[in-house]
Amino acid sequence: MTELLLKNVRPYGEGEPVDVLVRGTVIAEIGPGLTADDAEVIEGNGQILLPGFVDLHTHLREPGREDTETIETGSAAAALGGYTAVFAMANTSPVADSHVITDHVWRRGQEVGLVDVFPVGAVTVGLKGKQLAEMGTMAAGVGQVRMFSDDGHCVYDPLIMRRALEYANSLGVLIAQHAEEPRLTEGAVAHEGPTAARLGLAGWPRAAEESIVARDALLARDAGARVHICHASTAGTVELVKWAKSQGISITAEVTPHHLLLDDSRLETYDAVNKVNPPLREASDAAALRQALADGIIDCVATDHAPHAEQDKCCEFAVARPGMLGLETALSIIVQTMVAPGLLDWRGVAKVMSEKPAAIVGLDDHGRPIAVGEPANLTLVDPDAEWTVRGAELASISNNTPFEDMTFPAEVTATVLRGRVTAREGKAVGI
Ligand code: NCD
Ligand code: ZN
Repeated sequence: MTELLLKNVRPYGEGEPVDVLVRGTVIAEIGPGLTADDAEVIEGNGQILLPGFVDLHTHLREPGREDTETIETGSAAAALGGYTAVFAMANTSPVADSHVITDHVWRRGQEVGLVDVFPVGAVTVGLKGKQLAEMGTMAAGVGQVRMFSDDGHCVYDPLIMRRALEYANSLGVLIAQHAEEPRLTEGAVAHEGPTAARLGLAGWPRAAEESIVARDALLARDAGARVHICHASTAGTVELVKWAKSQGISITAEVTPHHLLLDDSRLETYDAVNKVNPPLREASDAAALRQALADGIIDCVATDHAPHAEQDKCCEFAVARPGMLGLETALSIIVQTMVAPGLLDWRGVAKVMSEKPAAIVGLDDHGRPIAVGEPANLTLVDPDAEWTVRGAELASISNNTPFEDMTFPAEVTATVLRGRVTAREGKAVGI
């Protein structure tokens, strides 16, 4: 059986450094001064050991837009970002609205072997919002789909959403909603507020998101079902999720690193690298989101990693596609926005980037404690490192990072998937 020995690491950043011995796919021993004759050894130098990160929201673009990302390159980006599991959204071409596609995504992810790629199935056929997709066959397929979303589009019809929630409840799967009332965002390209008004950009009001969050909370209540809110972006969404939770409604929510760090002042340059859905909001929204993540009102971080080709980004703001890269910068931005100001400690990082997302979708092997007998899905982080983002150096095929040339704290130095090193010192390690 292969062995991996992590020397001098600090689980959750707590206590004195220990050694962690992995045998096969499982953590076999934890303690000081461990030795193993034939083990691959990683010297941790007191770095922080966390459970492998889980991303509920990525766009890997395969099938259909392999010029912008593939399951292979997206998996490499994920491993380098410290992820051991990612959920690949259904807005591919063709749409992942049948088990043919979702099974392919799962199989291809396993073939690549850098990260577990869990396919997300579409809620409605072709993401058109008219007719429910065959969620049951996708859930029963090889890809074992456990999360469904029309992400990129809102399931806007309340009756379709109601049925989707009821159906998902009976299947034991999760519906993740891209909350955007489409009648309120026709032609919108930026957050509706003073900045967009001054720049002459058509606005996306907060109410377009919040009205759907409120509606879906009520639909979930009545169906006795669970609903998950994708990329929460406003202070009002925080208030609504807080209210819904106080009523015992089964609602969870994610926030992206870019909504925690950036705001609509970025739009001044008209650079479409800052165009994203939902749009970058105001500084007060970002502050409310950071506090909500610290308080547990927002459950977890999700990247919404959305690669786009240069020709779809380096063009007029109004016609550019929305979305930004996220997998390789997520941890550093969480450290900058949450750990550095004292809003989260490292145990908190493990919670919002690994344990909670895994629990929301019911993964058995990810987001587990760092303990003997547990699966060895692990991320090693150097908290003292600093690095400068360069889009061209990221593993993604696309370069659309809004963080170009920005310097961030903390770096993932190793990622381990079921006992196998998948990333080490900035390089993804294939099977
Ligand atoms: C995503 C994409 O490019 O697929 N874009 C985005 O701006 N977030 C879709 C989505 O997550 O809504
Ligand atoms: Zn979305």
